[in-house]
Amino acid sequence: MTDPIRDFQIAPSILSADFARLGEEVDDVLTSGADIVHFDVMDNHYVPNLTIGPMVCEALRKHGVTAPIDVHLMVRPVDQLIGDFIDAGASIITFHPEASDHIDRSLQLIRDGGCRAGLVFNPATPLSYLDYVMDKVDMVLLMSVNPGFGGQSFIPATLDKLREARQRIDASGRDIRLEVDGGVKVDNIAEIARAGADTFVAGSAVFKARNEADPHRYDGVIRDFREQLASVR
Ligand code: DX5
Ligand code: ZN
Repeated sequence: MTDPIRDFQIAPSILSADFARLGEEVDDVLTSGADIVHFDVMDNHYVPNLTIGPMVCEALRKHGVTAPIDVHLMVRPVDQLIGDFIDAGASIITFHPEASDHIDRSLQLIRDGGCRAGLVFNPATPLSYLDYVMDKVDMVLLMSVNPGFGGQSFIPATLDKLREARQRIDASGRDIRLEVDGGVKVDNIAEIARAGADTFVAGSAVFKARNEADPHRYDGVIRDFREQLASVR
């Protein structure tokens, strides 16, 4: 089977942004060349941290953000928040299968709301959760760290798991994105892409790389990512 040409997308995680200036930070990463906004929702229950909810997503839309907003739900339960994020202007909603009592129903809720739906796999969560729902997912998100915090190191076993996920996606013949989240840096993004990922979440790597001379620009690191990715094609 021929390898489909994949477009690579960079998704800065706003978890590492300056929350006091969130609208500006999102504008800045987008004008610096990012493709989508990765929006981490943590509930201090499913994961040991507490972040932002639908009101902040809605505020970003009202601020004028038109790029896709990729909502990563690290919450339990999930269904109520799925509806709230649909109303708040989310574009993609992903959730952890362990956190939903009815995975198929949660996926359907997301699609019924006009969003793209995805499942998120923790480092120790098997891909077999995909077995009966491949026709209901638009994105597979592999965590390359344990969820809850930015700035952790990439877990190398994710590379084999990415290869397995890529095989499943290609075998399905469906248009499904393969996203990776956690510890993505300029020095490992090419290897991660070669393993099959096409969508790259990066939090600390992006927001720590603010241009000293022009604090509204993050284009250096995004250009570096794209240069690395260009070597993969
Ligand atoms: C972790 C979050 C990630 C996080 C990644 O639970 O889901 O999106 O922001 O941060 P970095 O890129 O710093 O590992
Ligand atoms: Zn995330």
